[in-house]
Amino acid sequence: MSTITDQEWLQAITQKITRKLDWVSEKSKYKIPYTTIGGTHDDRNIDNPTGDAADGIQWWTNGFWGGMMWLMHHETGENKYKEIAGISEELLDRCFQQFAGLHHDVGFMWLPTSVANYRVTRNPQSRNRGLHAANLLAGRFNLAGGFIRAWNEVENLDTRGWAIIDCMFNIPLLYWASEETGDPRFKQIAMKHADTVIETFVRPDGSVNHIVEFDPFDGGVVRTHGGQGYENGSSWTRGQAWGLYGFMMSYIHTGKPAYLDTAKRIAHYFIANIPADGVIPVDFRQPEEPKLEDDTAAVIAACGLIEISKAVGGLEKKLYLEPAVKLLQAVEARCDWSEASDAIVQRGSAAYHNALHHGAIIYGDYYLLEAVFKLKGGDLYLW
Ligand code: GLY
Repeated sequence: MSTITDQEWLQAITQKITRKLDWVSEKSKYKIPYTTIGGTHDDRNIDNPTGDAADGIQWWTNGFWGGMMWLMHHETGENKYKEIAGISEELLDRCFQQFAGLHHDVGFMWLPTSVANYRVTRNPQSRNRGLHAANLLAGRFNLAGGFIRAWNEVENLDTRGWAIIDCMFNIPLLYWASEETGDPRFKQIAMKHADTVIETFVRPDGSVNHIVEFDPFDGGVVRTHGGQGYENGSSWTRGQAWGLYGFMMSYIHTGKPAYLDTAKRIAHYFIANIPADGVIPVDFRQPEEPKLEDDTAAVIAACGLIEISKAVGGLEKKLYLEPAVKLLQAVEARCDWSEASDAIVQRGSAAYHNALHHGAIIYGDYYLLEAVFKLKGGDLYLW
């Protein structure tokens, strides 16, 4: 962030975020939002809205609201945000009791809630929750294939051998658990998973598969799946973003050069595919029509690019920082800063073949905040 315009822009967008979250936080104080319905936050603090055990309180995005509150608490110093973060952290305890529905997304759920709380307040109960979640994640490791199993059974599919790129963002929970306890097992599992992802997910052009299916008994690769992207072999943009930013986090926690190299490879592919207007499609290889877009992919990628820019020196920094700012400015122009919606980022997509397109999704707001506060510096790092 060098030019005066960028600094002014950063100040202005921070003010808009602060103004919006001031009232939205009060309005949604007792909720755990995922999306909006008619502009109002929904609430995932419920059991099984669609009959899927993981759809309610165990829904994978349920840590982001708490995480937004911790980011706002750090940014403003206001205690109300800490209080609201605490409410959703306690609500998530029900997940541990309903263990059978839990999946690999325990990193997304407990890093921005309990581990954040522990990092800020040293609350021992929050530490316990974080370590409990880390043990659940470690328990999903498949020794034969060297990967972490993603989901439980999906629509009668046998997913015992399924791993997904998104998990690169769950494994920081394992790095934290090793850093916290001094026990290397968690970090060993995380690094083995990351090494497997380099070998089996990252393609020669720097794009990544969403799903790789392994034989759960002998560990061999069976096939790949298109997952939330357009089709097998395509390039789901949020998946590219999870890979880009996820490998950066593995690098930050371990210092292993191969993780920085991989984050850069994915970043170069992503940057080369950013359209002229900066608006990111759901899949870089989707048909021209319909024009499905995903601003959540843009803000996640921006966070990863900013982290790469911090890890490199001199002129190389610009290579990552400029596209990050371009992505964020394109998203900002499409945000809702008014009181008509509880959400800021409006044009997210759950998946290419899903009905939720051009809609608000909570992690769009979370990563927008994270990216803006990262650019400002002195941010609270939750992963
Ligand atoms: N981790 C699932 C998604 O990004 O939709």
